[in-house]
Amino acid sequence: MSELPIRFPRVIGHRGAVGHAPENTLVGIRKAAELGATWVEFDVALTKDDVPVLLHDATVDRTTDGTGKLADMTLQDVRALDAGRWFSADFAGERVPTLTETIRLLEALGLGANVEIKPTPGRESVTGRVVAKQVADEWPNSLRAPVFSSFWVDALVAAQRTAPEIPRGWLMRRPGKGWQAQAKALDCLSIHCSHKALTKGIATEIRAAGYHLLAYTVNDAKRALKLFDWGVESVFSDYPERILEM
Ligand code: G3P
Ligand code: MG
Repeated sequence: MSELPIRFPRVIGHRGAVGHAPENTLVGIRKAAELGATWVEFDVALTKDDVPVLLHDATVDRTTDGTGKLADMTLQDVRALDAGRWFSADFAGERVPTLTETIRLLEALGLGANVEIKPTPGRESVTGRVVAKQVADEWPNSLRAPVFSSFWVDALVAAQRTAPEIPRGWLMRRPGKGWQAQAKALDCLSIHCSHKALTKGIATEIRAAGYHLLAYTVNDAKRALKLFDWGVESVFSDYPERILEM
């Protein structure tokens, strides 16, 4: 995996490109690349048998034709589901991808990635550990290193212990009291905030502390311009082309 210093792009496709294609699917990642995104973000959680797959919610209800908690389903159960039809009949037959096949697709497309570690409840440390191990083992040399992120500090701590060389971003709505000590302990590269909670003052504080700053989820080009002006380097967008077309 490439060791070059990180230069974040202006836009990162959110859950692939969820404005155009079902979230956290291979077709969504392909769509983001087609739209011109050079990086994508996706959410990773573990099945019951500890296989990392792409899913945002703790249950499969919203984004597949199944029901139930991911933590109660084996990979075989999850692979039987349709993860595209909920979005549109055009995407029927799309599966919940494994992290392994996602990494292969990123390699084929030459895409950078923010791997958001999204543990199901109570599985924070094990998810951080298993995802970090798989990324460290399987990431191709031809691709730059990904950036891990998580709302869960325990997941980031586990990733840090397992694969300290892979950069971490701390994902949060906005920084709370004492955030700098925690970010330092996590040895974070970046802070990822909700753009709705960001102010110029908070952005300035984060940049002055030496962190890269990313903001989610920005679908309006004018808002993105303001955020860039405040020192945000990259925005996550459901419609990456809107930011690229500015
Ligand atoms: O990583 C940025 C963004 O994806 C965080 O929120 O809920 O869309 O995973 P969410
Ligand atoms: Mg996410």
